[in-house]
Amino acid sequence: MGARIVPASEGMAEAVQRIRAGELVAFPTETVYGLGANALDAEAVAGIFAAKSRPSTNPLIVHIADIKAVTPLVAAWPELASELAAKFWPGPLTLVVGRSNAVPDSATAGGSTVGLRVPSHPVALQLLRETNLPIAAPSANRSEEVSPTTAQHVADSLGPWVDDLLILDGGSCTVGLESTVVDVSVTPPHLLRHGMVTRAQLEAVAGRIIRGATAQEASIARSPGMTTRHYSPQTPLILLPAKRFLSQLQPTDGLIYYTDQIAWPLQHLIRLPDTPEQYAAGLYSALRDMDQSGVQRIVVEMPPVAPDGWAAIHDRLRRAAAPPER
Ligand code: TXA
Ligand code: MG
Repeated sequence: MGARIVPASEGMAEAVQRIRAGELVAFPTETVYGLGANALDAEAVAGIFAAKSRPSTNPLIVHIADIKAVTPLVAAWPELASELAAKFWPGPLTLVVGRSNAVPDSATAGGSTVGLRVPSHPVALQLLRETNLPIAAPSANRSEEVSPTTAQHVADSLGPWVDDLLILDGGSCTVGLESTVVDVSVTPPHLLRHGMVTRAQLEAVAGRIIRGATAQEASIARSPGMTTRHYSPQTPLILLPAKRFLSQLQPTDGLIYYTDQIAWPLQHLIRLPDTPEQYAAGLYSALRDMDQSGVQRIVVEMPPVAPDGWAAIHDRLRRAAAPPER
């Protein structure tokens, strides 16, 4: 067991060779680190599920180098998909479309659709170009843990579970939250997961978008991206507006806040920036740091409700605060 963190420029050749050989490689994207395998190789894809202990009902996102790579993977490519791709790729948007038979069942949880994304991180793009393969990659963490935004997070999460995992180090992820997922195989499209490409940005291109799973997705299996609890630290987490801190904070709490008002008398404090983009980029590191600090409870200052840019942050925090389902 164990993981090896290697600067991306040094490890690229080995990473390419490993992906081509059907092995796993962890690599940076602009959203979070991914645990990648050749998306066309059912056995390699099965390795991802084993490493993460991921339920087989949860489909993977398939990463591609550019829009030309879509063709062999899809059964249909709606005009709207082209418009959204033109506007948001490379970038943190996943498009769910009808899939072709080239994509193994394991990658799509047996469903008739596939999620596709062109990432913008140069290391991810280089890996995709040099392998000349589509790469299936969920976030590089054990199932239900907070997604990794540094190479060290990946090593902490998967190191104990994967034998000799190669992790390409590309620094901290700049977006910091998982991609927005939109199903464009149906009309109107469905927003399956909030991300830093916002609903308003999507609707400016696509018109009205419905929030939540389609009837088909809801009737098959709910994917963890859509269940309530996900992205969770081990330590209990609550969300509180700053005006309630005074009456509710306890000395053993850790506080993640963004408004700069009072020096709270706590040992464990993390202040995040007050713009949604910068807040999102720091959130998962803050949750991991608090989780390891030994605090009894993580108190997170309720972020602003508006504007639109905070929606994905609210979504992840609400899930992290939800009590375990099982
Ligand atoms: O930003 C990201 O999307 C990162 C990086 C590595 O690209 N990946 C990521 O993957 O977050 P993962 O596996 O942790 O989340 C993928 C989620 C699934 O849980 C599911 O909700 C949705 O994407 N998804 C993928 N394919 C789908 C499909 N065919 N139909 C419906 N939902 C799908
Ligand atoms: Mg994930």
